[in-house]
Amino acid sequence: MIIREATIADLEQIMDLEHRCFVNDAWSQEVMASEITAPHTYYIVCLEDGKVVGYAGLSKLEASEQADIQTIATDPSVRGRGFGKAMMNLLTSKAKELGAKEIFLEVRADNVVAQKLYAMFGYRRIGIRKNYYQPDNVDAFVMQTDITKEPVVIGIESSCDETGIGIVRGNTLLANVISSSMDQHAIFGGVVPEVAARAHLEALIPVLDEALDQANITLDEVDAIAVTNGPGLAGALMVGIAAAKALSVSTGKPIYAVNHLVGHVAADILANGKVETPTIALLVSGGHTSLLWVNDLLTDVTLLGETIDDAAGEAFDKVARVLGLKYPGGPEIDKAAATGSPAAIRFPRGLTLPKDMAEHKYDFSFSGLKTAVARHVELAESRNEEYSVADVAASFREAVVDVLVNKAIKACKEYGVNRLLLGGGVVANVRLRDYAAERCAAEGIDLRIPPFKLCTDNGAMIAVLGAQLIMSGASPSDLSFSAESTLDVRKVQS
Ligand code: KG4
Ligand code: ZN
Repeated sequence: MIIREATIADLEQIMDLEHRCFVNDAWSQEVMASEITAPHTYYIVCLEDGKVVGYAGLSKLEASEQADIQTIATDPSVRGRGFGKAMMNLLTSKAKELGAKEIFLEVRADNVVAQKLYAMFGYRRIGIRKNYYQPDNVDAFVMQTDITKEPVVIGIESSCDETGIGIVRGNTLLANVISSSMDQHAIFGGVVPEVAARAHLEALIPVLDEALDQANITLDEVDAIAVTNGPGLAGALMVGIAAAKALSVSTGKPIYAVNHLVGHVAADILANGKVETPTIALLVSGGHTSLLWVNDLLTDVTLLGETIDDAAGEAFDKVARVLGLKYPGGPEIDKAAATGSPAAIRFPRGLTLPKDMAEHKYDFSFSGLKTAVARHVELAESRNEEYSVADVAASFREAVVDVLVNKAIKACKEYGVNRLLLGGGVVANVRLRDYAAERCAAEGIDLRIPPFKLCTDNGAMIAVLGAQLIMSGASPSDLSFSAESTLDVRKVQS
């Protein structure tokens, strides 16, 4: 699909399409020609195989803050393929560029499909013009959208064991409600996907009600719905996606399918304002250990490295089990480590040897460390020797934190970026916070850590990422998107 500005040379093909789309009330060739060439209008055509298959036009008087979408048409043979949306998108960007604050349009009262498309773009019906379309005697609905307004967005997160629903207005947090099924997984020592999916199903409606309550708004006041579509547990993701789609279809509000990992980075906007870029981001949780280079939050995120086996939080959980501590293991190990010596046992630092650094400079591995801890404990037990849980916990924690922080700092230096952002549940770790702060201060790196409630999985981070997309003029997602458990971090929106 090619979209470009229309010229008078396109007139014949535009008129051909005009007659096919608007049989009884087509514009005359003279009217169309004068609109295309008028100084206050912006007309575009959509081409496929060199043929005009769509056109649309915007009018914006210089002295006015209002723009009008005068017409939009697509060839019946290409409908449903996103041409209309793409043209709407371009006209909206153009209106913004020309300084418009709101856009108006008229639509036939009997054209429900077009009305739905406009509603998806945030247009609301504000008036009616009786018998506007002649000779059919059909009313026109006047629709309007405010393009400078901060959108109210609901974010739905269900990629792991937290059912999170957050509500934001632009960059402002209105509500953040989380229901965790962690207790149900505790006896298994890790998240059981089926149990998580079931818990999401049960929690979604109450969590949504509570979020609306907390934000003190009704569904009517919501402008859009954002939902995590990956990465994560497929069955768990599907529950949130189904709920979000149902909400979108039943309310007619646009839906944005967004990337969970990028959501973790966006969360910081709610606490500290716009994420300054470029930045390196280290995401460490029970499900992921990812090092990202974020040049532009919405368009340019690169995965520098990730764990090749266990996630950092998972390593905490597994080691806790070896030490006879409860699940989740992170806080337990933190507690136990408080009285231990980090230098008592020299545990391996995964993927830090020169031979590993060649291929896995920014990747992580914690399974060797986990095995080393298990060996240490087994050996002591087989010899009937006492061992210090505090020392093992402190030494293990030191090994994890050492690798995480040093690889993140290395990335900052190598990419010439003096910003580091931490996210994910493991960021609650006392030693990780202290060591990152100490190293960043020494290296002149600006360290950002969102508050804990925004670090762990939540819906607010999904909502605020959705709001960024909307404010940047991104089109809503097509309802055909699905759960993608291994979604690439570069795909911010599906
Ligand atoms: O981000 P999160 O809440 O959920 C996932 O997306 O996984 O992270 C949960 C993980 C668990 O593995 C938990 O053990 C770990 O974060 N965690 C910690 C600490 N608190 C939670 N790890 C280390 N130290 C902590 N204080
Ligand atoms: Zn997460």
